[in-house]
Amino acid sequence: MPITIIVGGQWGDEGKGKIIDHLAQSANVIARYSGGNNAGHTIENEHGKFALHLVPCGISWPNTKNIIGSGTVIDPNVLIQEIEEIEKAKLPGTIYISEKAHIVMPYHITLDQLEEKFRGNDAVGTTGRGIGPAYADKISRNGIRIGDLLHPEELKKKVKLNLELKNKIIEKVYNGQTIEENTVFSSINSWVTKLQKYITNTEEIINKSINDKENIILEGAQGALLDIDHGTYPYVTSSNSIAGGSLTGLGIGSKKISKVHGVFKAFCTRVGEGPFPTEIFGEDAERIRKIAGEFGATTGRPRRIGWFDAVAARYSANINGLDSIILTKLDILDHWDEIKICVAYEFEGKILSYFPTDEKVLSKINPIYENIEGWKDSTFNLDSFEKINTKAKKFINRLEEIIELPINVISTGPKRESTIIRKKL
Ligand code: IMP
Repeated sequence: MPITIIVGGQWGDEGKGKIIDHLAQSANVIARYSGGNNAGHTIENEHGKFALHLVPCGISWPNTKNIIGSGTVIDPNVLIQEIEEIEKAKLPGTIYISEKAHIVMPYHITLDQLEEKFRGNDAVGTTGRGIGPAYADKISRNGIRIGDLLHPEELKKKVKLNLELKNKIIEKVYNGQTIEENTVFSSINSWVTKLQKYITNTEEIINKSINDKENIILEGAQGALLDIDHGTYPYVTSSNSIAGGSLTGLGIGSKKISKVHGVFKAFCTRVGEGPFPTEIFGEDAERIRKIAGEFGATTGRPRRIGWFDAVAARYSANINGLDSIILTKLDILDHWDEIKICVAYEFEGKILSYFPTDEKVLSKINPIYENIEGWKDSTFNLDSFEKINTKAKKFINRLEEIIELPINVISTGPKRESTIIRKKL
């Protein structure tokens, strides 16, 4: 395994949590590199079922170091709650928070929601968790970092200045409800008390672990098509969710990475607005949504549903430099007479075999499908490739041919053991 990146290949919610929980058994460090509590990584194992938003998915294994890296943004209230749940369930991993990670302040959450409302029909459909405004402040150098919690008096001066400006925007631009300084200050006091023991220089931990030749998983959040640079801009999140984000988001040299594996569902989903070439509606969509439980782990919003998009998958393979594919939720397709794979797009009479990120093109293309005969046989909970029926194997092999990458791991259910390892990663 040495240093392996596990990245979402689609629009997020591919089931990365379950896969990382499985792989972390043989890992020493699991490090999250981007995003915030817009993510919801569900894991289900002998300790119970957990929807992790910030803490990496190795936390259920003893002797694992679970790092929240510098590329993330952290809502301390959410993290404290998550840590309390983890402590209550006695999950044995340890947690480290990068001092360089930025804080999602209460005014970021307010501004995220007000900006979305202001955009009206052009809203991005954000999770409303303050992620965009927190990253915007980071880039404009107005951000507050987790390490600032270690110097509360200086931090309060910074917050005072920020709050003065943000309150003006909240009140004068959006006619919104301003935020009380004292409320923020008392939150800061409780953040300091509860989080300071976890705050550290995480680059040092990771690089020591690399030098000691330990096994390390770099945990992606969201998916490649939501990446701020390479996704379907402007309908994206505000960080680099692709594999490349792990280098800056954790402070690792590119030469150290051993392998990159992309997690893809056997179909597609998307939450929020933005182009979605293979989207389906009506009965088929409803059925998949219901069987697969496709509702946001963070917001509970129903996810949009579509067939597997191999054009987008090939693009994702390129921008992430994928070595292999991890295919999840295969069992959801057990019930269909016919399954579709999108193999190309048609745009204004021309066939496109690449993924155009120009939103104006992407929103007008027609998917060209290859139809695959359904297998109508249960693959649920299967744990070996031999047990899969021939038709489902054909679907898997066809995906491998079209994307030109091996599918080495297949997930057949939410539980850790419902996993087929065809080739060790
Ligand atoms: P934000 O990250 O909350 O700013 O939202 C920007 C876009 O990314 C919206 O379309 C969200 O629905 C989407 N998004 C953010 N996080 C996730 C995720 O973990 N899974 C799926 N979609 C997400």
